[in-house]
Amino acid sequence: MNKCIRTITKEWIWVFLFTMISIELVNGQTTMVNIQSRELTSLNGEWKGIIDPTGTGEYLQLWTEKKPVKKTDFYEYSFEEAPVLNVPGDFNSQMNELTYFEGTVWHKKEFSYSLSEGKRLFLHFGAVNYLADVYLNGEKIGTHEGGFTPFQFEITDKIKDGDNALIVKVNNNRKGNGLPGYGYDWFNYGGITRDVDLIETDDIFIEDYFIQLRKGSLDTVLGWVKMNGSHEKQDIEIEVPELNLRYKTRTDDDGFAPVEFSSDFGLWSPEGPKLYRVTLKSDTDFLVDTIGFRSIEVQGNQVLLNRKPIFLKAVNIHEENPQRMNRAYSKEDAQLLLNSAKELGCNLVRLAHYPHSENMVKEAERLGIMVWDELPVYQHIQFSDSLMPAKLEQMLQEMVGRDKNRCGVVVWALSNETYPSTPRRDDRLAELTQKCRALDSARLITHVVNTQGYKNNTVEVWDSLYHHSDIIAINEYFGWYLPWQGKPSETKWNISFPDKPVFISEFGGEAVYGNTDAPTDQAAYWTEGYQEKIYTDQIVMFNTMPNLVGVCPWLLYDYRSLGRMHSVYQKGYNRKGLMSEKGEKKKAWYVIKAYFDSK
Ligand code: GCU
Repeated sequence: MNKCIRTITKEWIWVFLFTMISIELVNGQTTMVNIQSRELTSLNGEWKGIIDPTGTGEYLQLWTEKKPVKKTDFYEYSFEEAPVLNVPGDFNSQMNELTYFEGTVWHKKEFSYSLSEGKRLFLHFGAVNYLADVYLNGEKIGTHEGGFTPFQFEITDKIKDGDNALIVKVNNNRKGNGLPGYGYDWFNYGGITRDVDLIETDDIFIEDYFIQLRKGSLDTVLGWVKMNGSHEKQDIEIEVPELNLRYKTRTDDDGFAPVEFSSDFGLWSPEGPKLYRVTLKSDTDFLVDTIGFRSIEVQGNQVLLNRKPIFLKAVNIHEENPQRMNRAYSKEDAQLLLNSAKELGCNLVRLAHYPHSENMVKEAERLGIMVWDELPVYQHIQFSDSLMPAKLEQMLQEMVGRDKNRCGVVVWALSNETYPSTPRRDDRLAELTQKCRALDSARLITHVVNTQGYKNNTVEVWDSLYHHSDIIAINEYFGWYLPWQGKPSETKWNISFPDKPVFISEFGGEAVYGNTDAPTDQAAYWTEGYQEKIYTDQIVMFNTMPNLVGVCPWLLYDYRSLGRMHSVYQKGYNRKGLMSEKGEKKKAWYVIKAYFDSK
């Protein structure tokens, strides 16, 4: 029987209004979701690159690409013989002279295009790290700050029929008031690191939607659809063919349409990652998505997935292809990393410390691996900078905006190891948490903290951020950065939020794969045996911990981080991987594997 239901509840109206106000308040523009369902023209492939270490291109207005006219004319730039840079791809790994480069690289793509009659055209970037200034045919069409989230510009009135020149000024300099700030423990890959696409739409199109189970429900979807274009009212029809479900709603004067429908969904879980084909149809648009339905919540000091307690067997992953040792971006990269996590026995991956590619989030969902999605609000952040509130909101909007329909995403993590002593840290992050709840009330929200005290083998856990967190996420490195102060089995935990679940979001230590001869009781030899002992001791402690709902070793693979400068053992790599960058399993890998298999 076709379920054609129209119900609008009081609760829904509040959720809807609060969400829409949040979206409109942020930066008034939304990047369209689910672009893979649209007619795309990819601009991936060979671009040209000009390296601009002194920033002269700005002064020369390089984007105007002036050409000599008079015999006496000359211009000190040209893309003609410029080297090729492949997009998507970080530029550091593509040219020797760019290996450690932090600065400006001008990218150019020439393409021809003919816009269909009555259509609109958007230029969409999956991500550019870190600052992007975008020019089309010599005219600036916009800028974007932030290295890990999508953005777009409408170019309907700027595209030429025929040949076009797209120039992107990419700058990956670290910024004191950036997100992240100056200091971070991963490789600062710069470039157009994800897909670039041209997207044609109708005059009025489905720009955004949120279709997920309402908080605490296993059978009712509570969401909305947002149209872009003149806001004449349109009928919206959502279908889930496999459930014989057809739901109708209608947009209001602002182009928003409420969504609320119920069904007997096959719930998504790691054991059964059920996804449904969902279609969205308006008078002028049609999209297809693949959406799963599950419930994630905290009850007392447990995490419940579909109302059943679950232990989070997690691992940290940076967005780096361990074979190429450069920025990961493709579906194949995602499968390589996620299959390694699956082999370890994981049911969750913490995508450290920034939103990874959409490929990674979608592949995880397909493989039945839950995702911890995280903002690069990392350690040294200038919270009191006047531009910081807008940057925080924009990046939150872009992360939640892109991934909110991915049921595999169960945690929004809004900060990592920030310092209570930093001015405005507490109130800015409290504000950010509220905004995140307004955008999505159905997922868990947390802040990762390492402010705990450790004295006399007692861990004192308190941080104001925990007031706003659904789970207490703690990074601790007992046995590596902090020697044990007693028997791990006798470690005491005084957690000032006894009614909240505890998740160890990082622990571990370094070792070089194959380094098994040196003394295994001394950290300074980077032996596998020393790392293995850290893990066995940690597990002894975990077995005595209160409210523990999951653990997350730091991390899956050795990875590049230039601050790791030991010329024998590190060579610019952080060696805390359970595996080497070649995928060689260290002894600690087997310890975690056995522990996860036992849970
Ligand atoms: C920190 C931090 C990680 C870092 C790790 C380390 O907890 O969150 O980004 O790489 O410790 O020191 O290896």
